[in-house]
Amino acid sequence: MESWMRWLLLCCHFLLFHFSPSHSLCHLHDGFALLQFKNSFTIYTDNPNVVCGGGYAKTTTWKNVTDCCSWPGVTCHPISSHVIGLNLSCSNLQGKIYPNSTLFRISHLQSLNLAFNNFSGSHLSSLFGGFSSLTYLNLANTNFEGEIPPQISYLSKLASLDLSYNYNLKWKEDTLKRLLQNATVLRELILDETNMSSVSTSSLNLSSSLVTLSLQNVGLRGNLTNDILCLPNLQHLHLTQLQVQLPTVSCSSDSLNILSLSSCDFQGTLPPSFSNFTHLTSVEFHDNYFNYSFPSSLLTLPSLAFLSIKYNNLSGEIPNVFPRSNKFEELHLSENNLGGELPSTLSNLQHLIVLDLSYNEFSGQIPPSLFDLTQLHHLDCAYNKLQGPLPNNIVGFQKLTWFSLGHNLLNGTIPSWCLSLPSLVNLYLPENRFTGHISAISSYSIENLILNDNKIQANIPESIFSLVNLTRLDLSANNLSGFFHFHLFSELQNLKYLDLSQNDQLSLNFESSVNYSLYNLKTLALSSMGLTEFPKLLGKVPNLESLDLSNNKLTGRVPNWLFETSSLGLLDLSQNLFTSSFDHISWGQSLSHLDLSFNALTGGIPSSICNVSFMYVLKLSHNKLTGNIPQCLVNSSGLNILDLQMNKLYGTLPNAFSAYCRFRTINLNGNQLEGLLPKSLSICTNLLVLDLGNNEIEDKFPHWLQSLPHLKVLVLRANKLHGPITDFKAENGFPSLIIFDISSNNFSGPIPKVDIFFKSMKNVFQLGYATYLVMYVSNFEGSMSYVDYVIVTTKGNNMTLTKIRDDFVSIDLSKNRFEGEIPNVIGALHALIGLNLSHNRLRGPIPKSMGNLTNLESLDLSSNMLDGEIPTELTNLNFLEVLNLSYNHLVGEIPQGKQFNTFSNDSYKGNSGLCGILLTKKCVKDPEQHLHLHRPSREIRNLDLIGNQWL
Ligand SMILES: *[C@@H]1O[C@H](CO)[C@@H](O)[C@H](O)[C@H]1NC(C)=O
Ligand SMILES: *[C@@H]1O[C@H](CO)[C@@H](O)[C@H](O)[C@H]1NC(C)=O
Ligand SMILES: *[C@@H]1O[C@H](CO)[C@@H](O)[C@H](O)[C@H]1NC(C)=O
Ligand SMILES: *[C@@H]1O[C@H](CO)[C@@H](O)[C@H](O)[C@H]1NC(C)=O
Ligand SMILES: *[C@@H]1O[C@H](CO)[C@@H](O)[C@H](O)[C@H]1NC(C)=O
Repeated sequence: MESWMRWLLLCCHFLLFHFSPSHSLCHLHDGFALLQFKNSFTIYTDNPNVVCGGGYAKTTTWKNVTDCCSWPGVTCHPISSHVIGLNLSCSNLQGKIYPNSTLFRISHLQSLNLAFNNFSGSHLSSLFGGFSSLTYLNLANTNFEGEIPPQISYLSKLASLDLSYNYNLKWKEDTLKRLLQNATVLRELILDETNMSSVSTSSLNLSSSLVTLSLQNVGLRGNLTNDILCLPNLQHLHLTQLQVQLPTVSCSSDSLNILSLSSCDFQGTLPPSFSNFTHLTSVEFHDNYFNYSFPSSLLTLPSLAFLSIKYNNLSGEIPNVFPRSNKFEELHLSENNLGGELPSTLSNLQHLIVLDLSYNEFSGQIPPSLFDLTQLHHLDCAYNKLQGPLPNNIVGFQKLTWFSLGHNLLNGTIPSWCLSLPSLVNLYLPENRFTGHISAISSYSIENLILNDNKIQANIPESIFSLVNLTRLDLSANNLSGFFHFHLFSELQNLKYLDLSQNDQLSLNFESSVNYSLYNLKTLALSSMGLTEFPKLLGKVPNLESLDLSNNKLTGRVPNWLFETSSLGLLDLSQNLFTSSFDHISWGQSLSHLDLSFNALTGGIPSSICNVSFMYVLKLSHNKLTGNIPQCLVNSSGLNILDLQMNKLYGTLPNAFSAYCRFRTINLNGNQLEGLLPKSLSICTNLLVLDLGNNEIEDKFPHWLQSLPHLKVLVLRANKLHGPITDFKAENGFPSLIIFDISSNNFSGPIPKVDIFFKSMKNVFQLGYATYLVMYVSNFEGSMSYVDYVIVTTKGNNMTLTKIRDDFVSIDLSKNRFEGEIPNVIGALHALIGLNLSHNRLRGPIPKSMGNLTNLESLDLSSNMLDGEIPTELTNLNFLEVLNLSYNHLVGEIPQGKQFNTFSNDSYKGNSGLCGILLTKKCVKDPEQHLHLHRPSREIRNLDLIGNQWL
């Protein structure tokens, strides 16, 4: 009986699905609508979508005569034959979807996926709300724009909604609220990178059916609540780039396994309650402000495989309690302040694939057991303070592809296992204290071998030339020696980057009977190697983009063939002995950075240099160049940095700065330029640094420069500038200036009203000083660091930073004919570090308000006609190291205490009315004071340094 019924059912089923007249013939109007829909787009073939792996146009096989149910991407109902599913994701469709689109006539759709196409310019039509059977809707990455229509809330059967990566799609709070109310079976809600800025967390009344919630970078307002974290079925939660507070979670969850709360500005400690989510497998908290210690509660989560807390403020040690049962595969803790020794129990993490501890304060030796890990692919401990030698023998690391211990204090030789790991692709050990020689290398998969800034000795091993995959080799700044033929590098046909600089015992031979080409080589650095002959590379490096031969002993002419290498963009030949003029050169069109500073070049600057269209940096400083500055240099539009200081250039300053002026730095200090200051400079609104000091310029003060919004440094010292300095705007003149040097001119009249215009000098430590000054400073150094002036990371710049303060704020008005009193308001320039008003004709008292200049380290008021007593307020200047009040008419007792006990007689001489215990002239009531020699706690900063650089 039972089996008979079952047979009947099967039979009916068979009849229904295989002989039904409607089977596999799609409804005519569905097919028609689909074809029309298809025809409303063009298929783009360029710019294939990466996510889609290129994508393929499913619709190309859709033909009128065939059955639409058989078309790719189309699903029909088995009984009614209505089209119920349409999946055209990644189909390279381009065009608009208007309300009259025939898509909306396919009314039985249950599933619609149009993700990864380009409907740019389309609004999401209210007609989407008409798909009343829809359970799955995916419009991710389709460039829909505008407001999401309220009708979307009619889709009450939705189980999955993905509108992510439509940056211009905007939610109204009400629309989302009503959708969430109506869609009671919603399991998946993915709205990343849509605009939810007008939605607040409190209106997110989420359905308890939710399994996946992803709201990354949506601009949501309000605080994260337990309502979200405690959803009973939630498995995946991704909330990034919200500005929310983290609640103390008062629930536990058996379902949550992926939790991503990155870039959320969370502060304070990580709430321990997260350990209540016992099924977590992946936790991302990176880029927050978690501080205090490492959240050890996370280490005991039994299923956790992925943990990232990188880029927070964690400090203290990592507790040494990693249990053996742990399932960790990835542990990312970089960019915190974690310190102490690396925990030895890390080696319990037998499944570990990625370990990133870089940019912390870890010290001590690396625990030897760490080298036993067998599954590790990626180990990064760079930028810590790890010490000691690496072990000689290890058993693990056979799968390691990325090994980075750079920027630590490691010493000893680089063990041979390190260079024979079978899977190794990247080896970064720069800036340590490794010594000894490099052993034979047999890691043939290696692509990046970076060993610069160590103390490695002896020859480069032959085996290096058999590493056929090598693309980047940096052995610079070691003690390598020996002699070899440069053409050996041509064995390395993938080599793009080669730096052998600063190995002055290493000799290269460029003579070669071998016909070779380093076809892929783009960067070659052979700086500071004692080269006396220009490397014979003609035709050998056809694609070279950057060549650094600075600080060698190259003489004679710069060879012209260099510029025929059409790819060459950056050329640094600074600090050599090139002598002859360079007007024979036919400049390469791709040249963008040319540095010939610190040579002995003679002759004029050829105007042919202006023909280079994209010249960005031109440094010819410290040579013996004569003649005029070619006018075309300043009306060429691209130049950012022009450094011609310390030559013998004469004539007037070019005066045709164009409206396209991009100059950030102009340095013409130390020439014989004359005439007027070019007014057209005021067009150059990007200007940060203008140094025209030590010339013969004869003009009034260039008050028209005061509108330059970014000008940080203005140096006009030692010219023939004259007249009073007036004409300042009341408020915003020179809004960014931090170094103002007009000394040794003939300016007269009262002291300029520095207090009202140098706004930037009033606030200490303004953001941005560091950046700009680094750039300024690098003008004076031989480094080629202009490539990116904001993010400065090269060695050269780090060095210059240590030489000069990045918050240096100074005014130098000395050696002019300023007269009258020092204005009391000068005390408002709180950021001042150096103030020099010496050698003028200033009268009256030293203002008491100067005691407010608490950052001042150098104060020179000497050789004026100041009178009255030295205000005791000056003893507040705790950082003052240099004080010169000599040759005035000061009287009375020299204040005592603090810094004043450290200045010598010389600070006061030439003031016959002064008395004090340091002077031969004691005051009448000598109180027999005890001297407290008090030095500032800040490091000594030498003010002369910056001055010398200008000279
Ligand atoms: C489909 O084909 C029929 C005849 O074969 C034709 O009349 C009709 O216009 C075609 N429709 C489309 C949309 O091409
Ligand atoms: C659909 O509407 C758009 C915009 O309103 C219009 O440009 C287009 O011609 C219409 N298409 C059809 C087939 O009517
Ligand atoms: C909820 O969905 C139903 C059915 O689609 C619809 O009629 C109703 O208007 C929706 N309610 C809201 C608040 O959108
Ligand atoms: C978020 O929480 C913090 C502290 O609990 C509170 O000060 C703040 O006002 C809250 N913000 C909003 C938008 O509710
Ligand atoms: C874990 O969750 C329970 C509720 O299930 C709660 O009472 C407890 O306080 C939570 N634990 C922590 C550490 O927050």
